[in-house]
Amino acid sequence: MGKTVLVTGAASGIGLASTKLLLEDGCRILAFDPQEERMRAELPDCEEIEFFGGDVSKTEDCQAAVARAVQKFGNLNALLHWGAAHSTKRWDELDAKECNFIMAVNVTGSFLISQAAATHMMAYDGGSIVLTTSASMLYGVTGGNGQGGPAYTTSKAAIIGLNRSLARSLAPKVRCNAVSPGIAETAMIAEYTDDQRAAMAVRFPMGRFGEPEEIAHAGIFLISDKASFITGEVIHANGGSNFN
Ligand SMILES: NC(=O)c1ccc[n+]([C@@H]2O[C@H](COP(=O)([O-])OP(=O)(O)OC[C@H]3O[C@@H](n4cnc5c(N)ncnc54)[C@H](O)[C@@H]3O)[C@@H](O)[C@H]2O)c1
Repeated sequence: MGKTVLVTGAASGIGLASTKLLLEDGCRILAFDPQEERMRAELPDCEEIEFFGGDVSKTEDCQAAVARAVQKFGNLNALLHWGAAHSTKRWDELDAKECNFIMAVNVTGSFLISQAAATHMMAYDGGSIVLTTSASMLYGVTGGNGQGGPAYTTSKAAIIGLNRSLARSLAPKVRCNAVSPGIAETAMIAEYTDDQRAAMAVRFPMGRFGEPEEIAHAGIFLISDKASFITGEVIHANGGSNFN
């Protein structure tokens, strides 16, 4: 593909898988995650990758990451924003502090990293942004047993509105879309109990949860030139689990 891509959540799961796939595809990557040591341990230290330990809920981190990508690679063509915080608290366990933290990272953070990337893209050659929502906002999952609760589910529903607003604001120079993963085998579902896994698995016509690479490919398609007439959309990569 040969693009310069800012990938958030690059230390783990879908973001890590995306980074490896994009490197194989000839891209240059600004790998962004609070877990900088983990990124460095998981990914090759080569000319095509620049590591940035940062937090998307901080304006200065988002702006500095974009500046670093442009300084190192000369441009920024795409943002693949997978990074997110999880909350499994049920409605009667959740408090304002955790709720506000999840909104700050997942909602405000999605806006801030998009704003930083779009500011560069609108001033130069245009580009493409991909945000991440979740099948949890289709199910309305309740929390407990390692699954997302009301804070997480609400934060992921907000991404649908942000996606539409940015798509209209930034067109035609910058496209903005979202991926809605179903359950994928990453650290985010590490606390699922066996009973929880079995209960959720019956929702999947494909008969299994997703692999991180299967979600990553949906985002990589959306930033590619093959998706040049797609903006404001959501791709559901969830093994058909929204049929239930
Ligand atoms: N795994 C699933 O079942 C599933 C289902 C639906 C949606 N999703 C979404 O997919 C995306 C990727 O999740 P994953 O499954 O790879 O999870 P993961 O836990 O493996 O990776 C999430 C990454 O986000 C990073 N992160 C946390 N806070 C951050 C911050 N403030 N700024 C930047 N990065 C931050 C973490 O350090 C971690 O590396 C998330 O947006 C998640 O909500 C995942």
